[in-house]
Amino acid sequence: MARPRVVLSVATSVDGCIDDTSPQRLILSGPQDLDRVDGERAAADAILVGASTIRRDDPRLLVRSAERIAERVAGGRAPQPLKATISSGGRLDPSARFFTTGEQPKLVYLPAGVEAPHGVRAAATVVPAGDPLDPALVLADLHERGVRTLLVEGGTAMHTLFLTADLVDELQLAVAPIFVGNAGAPRFVGAGVFPHGPEHRMRLAEVRRVDDVVLARYLLGDAR
Ligand SMILES: NC(=O)c1ccc[n+]([C@@H]2O[C@H](COP(=O)([O-])OP(=O)(O)OC[C@H]3O[C@@H](n4cnc5c(N)ncnc54)[C@H](OP(=O)(O)O)[C@@H]3O)[C@@H](O)[C@H]2O)c1
Repeated sequence: MARPRVVLSVATSVDGCIDDTSPQRLILSGPQDLDRVDGERAAADAILVGASTIRRDDPRLLVRSAERIAERVAGGRAPQPLKATISSGGRLDPSARFFTTGEQPKLVYLPAGVEAPHGVRAAATVVPAGDPLDPALVLADLHERGVRTLLVEGGTAMHTLFLTADLVDELQLAVAPIFVGNAGAPRFVGAGVFPHGPEHRMRLAEVRRVDDVVLARYLLGDAR
């Protein structure tokens, strides 16, 4: 099945957490790293986050830089990447910024046979993607819609789903110089069988200092 190149971008604390347990979103990286991620968004044809991240963080998932938007348009692309999410039941608020910001299509992938609530069906295109949901079918559908680069931006369940399925080509791990130290805080990934263990190491492509954050870029599969 043809699929897009998949870039997974995440910011963690040094103890591997991607958030804390407070109601506010934990800011892990600084302005320079956020701008770097904005560049990754601008380079992508679609951005995907899990349903819990939409419910918890209410992200817009838009390219912010006017210059980057103009460059996309000048290159014959849509101003903004598509937005996509994965859910088991579609229990999402249609007034979430995922749905209400930007003119681009919004895609909600659900297990086959699951009907999304009416409000979600009105706000997005709902796509069945196997039973149980198969991330490879999500990627195949995105490819059919013209997506050649997908940026996966969290959270834990999405990282685990795509990494354990060996569907990530590049991992961009931004490590912030802080500890979260809370046993209940969401981690970068959950438990699972990951293709890249001690016998199959990822390839370190780059290490970069971005403000006080260390960005490590790893290549996971054959170059795409
Ligand atoms: N630091 C960072 O870079 C970063 C980035 C993004 C998010 N985060 C953090 O990540 C945390 C959220 O992580 P999370 O793991 O709870 O949520 P998530 O990965 O955003 O979404 C999990 C949800 O995805 C759906 N899902 C997962 N696997 C599925 C499958 N196999 N089939 C169908 N649906 C599936 C389910 O949605 P339903 O419940 O609707 O069925 C599940 O509740 C938040 O604290 C957020 O702040 C951090």
